[in-house]
Amino acid sequence: MLDLHRRALEGFTLGLTQQQDEADLVAIEDVYLRNGGEFLLGFIGKRLVAMGGFKRLTEGLAEVRRMRIARDLQGRGHGTYLLRELERRAFQSGVRVLCLDAARRRSLTLEFYRKHGYQETGQSFYGAVETVQFRKALDQRNGQGAANQSAAPNVGPATSVGDSGVAGGPPSVS
Ligand SMILES: CC(C)(COP(=O)(O)OP(=O)(O)OC[C@H]1O[C@@H](n2cnc3c(N)ncnc32)[C@H](O)[C@@H]1OP(=O)(O)O)[C@@H](O)C(=O)NCCC(=O)NCCS
Repeated sequence: MLDLHRRALEGFTLGLTQQQDEADLVAIEDVYLRNGGEFLLGFIGKRLVAMGGFKRLTEGLAEVRRMRIARDLQGRGHGTYLLRELERRAFQSGVRVLCLDAARRRSLTLEFYRKHGYQETGQSFYGAVETVQFRKALDQRNGQGAANQSAAPNVGPATSVGDSGVAGGPPSVS
């Protein structure tokens, strides 16, 4: 999982130590799961190809974080599938607004969130990286979630996460 994350950051000067940047990723249960959030992992066969979660900020507000699709598989709908599944789960658990930050330099990523109905609300920094802040209000349609997608990764919750992967395979939710 850390590998998938690190590859996504290649080319960025973060201005944070790896330890600072990855603090949440080595404490998924504490940071995401115990506070009413979720963290999903997507596999094709045994290969981890997708990850992303939402962190509860208040009862009705959560932050989408750590959306990552393996580089060679981007642009094939996997991110869409994962985001819709996160939105579905967030809505079902009472979240009505999702927010997120994305690096300004990543124009395709910004486009991805705009296409999914996220609206720009401001700008900020993650370490030394300039970010664009987005928000989206969820409704019943988001509660219905991802459409069936035959080539989608097998997506399910992270259970226990360590340096080299996930203990206990995630169930299929398709
Ligand atoms: C952003 C990301 C999660 C999107 O997932 P994805 O599976 O590549 O996106 P999808 O295939 O579902 O959607 C494709 C759309 O997203 C956009 N997109 C984003 N990244 C893209 C990429 N690398 N290649 C092609 N399209 C991309 C395009 O607008 C595209 O629309 P189009 O098909 O009409 O051209 C993924 O590309 C990724 O992990 N990027 C690197 C890490 C990152 O920036 N994470 C977000 C930080 S918050």
